Amino acid sequence: MRLKTLTYTSRARLDLGDEDLAAIHQTARHLNALDGISGLLLFDGSRFLQIVEGAEDAVDNLVERLRMDSRHSAFEVRDERQVERRSFPDWSMELVRVSAGYCNARDELATILPSAVAPSVRELVFRMTGRLAEA
Ligand SMILES: Cc1cc2nc3c(=O)[nH]c(=O)nc-3n(C[C@H](O)[C@H](O)[C@H](O)COP(=O)(O)O)c2cc1C
Repeated sequence: MRLKTLTYTSRARLDLGDEDLAAIHQTARHLNALDGISGLLLFDGSRFLQIVEGAEDAVDNLVERLRMDSRHSAFEVRDERQVERRSFPDWSMELVRVSAGYCNARDELATILPSAVAPSVRELVFRMTGRLAEA
């Protein structure tokens, strides 16, 4: 099976609330378990960064659904590559919320992000949390 990982960023719909976020997370975990997809979803209150990994077909299929989802916009693929093994084998979709003023986010994420994650993706994650830490 050819495995791939894809990272994208997007902008949450303006009125997206806690219940919407919980619903997204629940759907993601449920469907990803069925589709053999694992990964990480980062939300900073207005933007998403998601890393999804799994069989090539499954990831491509998910990306098509994500592009159509009106709960976010400005969908932009930031990294896409084939991998030998998963970085998040145990997470059908881990949600990490980063809130403004949460200055330890960088440290926390450094321990959460497996070393196998591509340096460019780590950098993206840190930029997202770093900007908030400075705010
Ligand atoms: C930020 C965000 C992340 C999402 N992550 C996933 C995911 O990891 N897996 C998934 O199946 N659906 C995810 N969804 C939901 C999909 O966009 C889609 O609604 C869902 O897969 C059901 O697809 P369908 O309505 O076409 O059947 C996410 C949606 C948003 C807005």
